[in-house]
Amino acid sequence: MSREALIDSLGRSQALVQALVADADEAAYRHQHHADLSPLGWHLGHCVYNECFWLHEKLRGDDSVTAPIADFYTPPRTPKEERGRRLPPRADLLTWAQEMQHYNLHYLRNLRPELSRHPLLQDDYLIHFLLQHNSQHYETMLMVLTQKSLGEYTPEHAAPGALQAATPARDSIDIPGGHYRIGGERPMAYDNELPPQQAELGPFSIARRPVSNAEYLGFIDSGGYADASLWDAAGNAWRQASGAAHPDHWRRDAEGQWQGLGVRGAYALAPEEPVSGLNHYEASAFARWAGAGLPHEYQWEAACRIGALQQTGRVWEWCGNSFQPYDGFQPFPYDEYSQPWFDGSHYALKGGSLYTQPAIKRPSFRNFFEADKRHVFAGLRLVY
Ligand code: AVJ
Ligand code: FE
Repeated sequence: MSREALIDSLGRSQALVQALVADADEAAYRHQHHADLSPLGWHLGHCVYNECFWLHEKLRGDDSVTAPIADFYTPPRTPKEERGRRLPPRADLLTWAQEMQHYNLHYLRNLRPELSRHPLLQDDYLIHFLLQHNSQHYETMLMVLTQKSLGEYTPEHAAPGALQAATPARDSIDIPGGHYRIGGERPMAYDNELPPQQAELGPFSIARRPVSNAEYLGFIDSGGYADASLWDAAGNAWRQASGAAHPDHWRRDAEGQWQGLGVRGAYALAPEEPVSGLNHYEASAFARWAGAGLPHEYQWEAACRIGALQQTGRVWEWCGNSFQPYDGFQPFPYDEYSQPWFDGSHYALKGGSLYTQPAIKRPSFRNFFEADKRHVFAGLRLVY
């Protein structure tokens, strides 16, 4: 992609995060809708801050924009609970974001030659990074809006169509053992996708499609949430403490039928669509119930690269393995993007959701969340 086209994509990613704040009212902008999620407005400010940090503070040594707001927009320095009341008025933040992000595009289109040769701009690395960072926060903002819908839900309306349970159909494809290429390519790759690896995999069989809403209802209806033998120790502890009995994004209507809750409120759960709103414990319990397992992320990537997987990019798919560095891992462009999360308690997710921008969707992309996180647009695919 030419630098010009890439900068246009960055501009579209800016427009997406701005539009969500332009559409919100002051309360939705400032409110913390979920313990794990910042207010909507903070995400926009953080995207702008991040662009300015790399383009102005790092590239040309000018921290006049970033220094006064660094504490607020650097995640570990301001607790999520304080972010809402410390945000500027919505209209002020939006105007500032529009002006700064517009200026950043102009600055990139007219880079001085000595800045163009900066190592961070080699192969337009930094533009790829900023585009992907905005895209990741756009998806997180849609998680915020989903939580807002859940908070406002009242079961007054009947679901447009009742979801019927289905037994999991085994429709899998056999993948021969061998050496498979795993990993990303510069300049798009994040640090955790590099360096590329040769993974030696034994033969396995992987489902062509992710687990569907109808199949997941089969698990619920057969008492999956009450059967301790399907859950490991941590899963059982979570299940008992939370009292969970259905995906985070599902609610019953007035007649007891399931419906989905999304960015725009309630929607009919299509039986064949991948189930979403599960954490790693629920995904693992479903897999055990179905007599299967969760794929290792290398199995997922190998099968994806040879075209064996259908419906990738509709939900993030939980993998069985924790998020770990590849041999030869080197953190960039900053130490905290991946490094702190190689702690054994984050699990890898592959694929991408309906809300994931194309800039993120690639076989090598690795997402990561702790086992109990279910505000993510995540489901699963089985491996045998
Ligand atoms: C990879 C999605 C877990 O949102 O916390 C955004 C991505 N890192 N800004 C997150 C991220 C820094 C990260 N996840
Ligand atoms: Fe970020």
